Amino acid sequence: LKKINIALDGFSSCGKSTLAKALANKLEYTYIDSGAMYRAVTLYFLRKGIIDGDDVQEDKIDEALSELWIDFFYNPETGKSETLLNEENVENEIREMEVSRNVSRVALIKKVRTRLIGIQQIQGQAKGVVMDGRDIGTNVFPDAELKIFMTADTDVRAQRRFEELTKKGASVTLEEIKANLADRDHQDTTRAENPLLQAEDAYVIDNTNLTQEQQFEMALGWSMEIINS
Ligand code: CDP
Repeated sequence: LKKINIALDGFSSCGKSTLAKALANKLEYTYIDSGAMYRAVTLYFLRKGIIDGDDVQEDKIDEALSELWIDFFYNPETGKSETLLNEENVENEIREMEVSRNVSRVALIKKVRTRLIGIQQIQGQAKGVVMDGRDIGTNVFPDAELKIFMTADTDVRAQRRFEELTKKGASVTLEEIKANLADRDHQDTTRAENPLLQAEDAYVIDNTNLTQEQQFEMALGWSMEIINS
């Protein structure tokens, strides 16, 4: 059977990773969360003091990037793929608000993007990858056989993220999350380097009123059509 790459892009918190994981699972492909990579770099920069309040210490970025390595491993205890930063499991920490507040700022930095895109392209070389992010169909895999662009109503997205975080025991307010999503959407769509943009040849899913099963069936249908063609 032909192996393809699937690029899934869209706004923050509109269920990209849920769909990407389900597709990867069904097709026996590798799921890669590119946002987790930007989050891991952000965590590293916060720890190293490279992000300090509003300041970013530009002169320290090269060295920091050369020191860090990001990897994923399958954790049999949680049944999930988790993020490693220099071999430390940072899966929970990278989802915290401190990282969310700073990640889009880090994702603006050209050197950061060049480094991460390089890693992502190597990961996709053998095909059979489902990757979600902001610039996968436009920039990381412009030749991906299937591109999907996801969106959903802002209030619905905020409510979903709120439930996801409070379930994990985080103390956040819905207002805080709404503000963070609006802020990241703005930064992600207006940045100079690889902004969030719908690829011309992308299929669009607005899942405001779709169940997870409905969106999965749509995406699987497109995938199988391409794989069988
Ligand atoms: O989970 P959520 O949808 O909130 O975001 P994410 O996928 O974890 O991505 C976090 C942030 O990383 C985004 O808001 C973007 O600023 C950045 N990002 C990016 O610039 N390019 C990507 N391919 C993926 C994420």
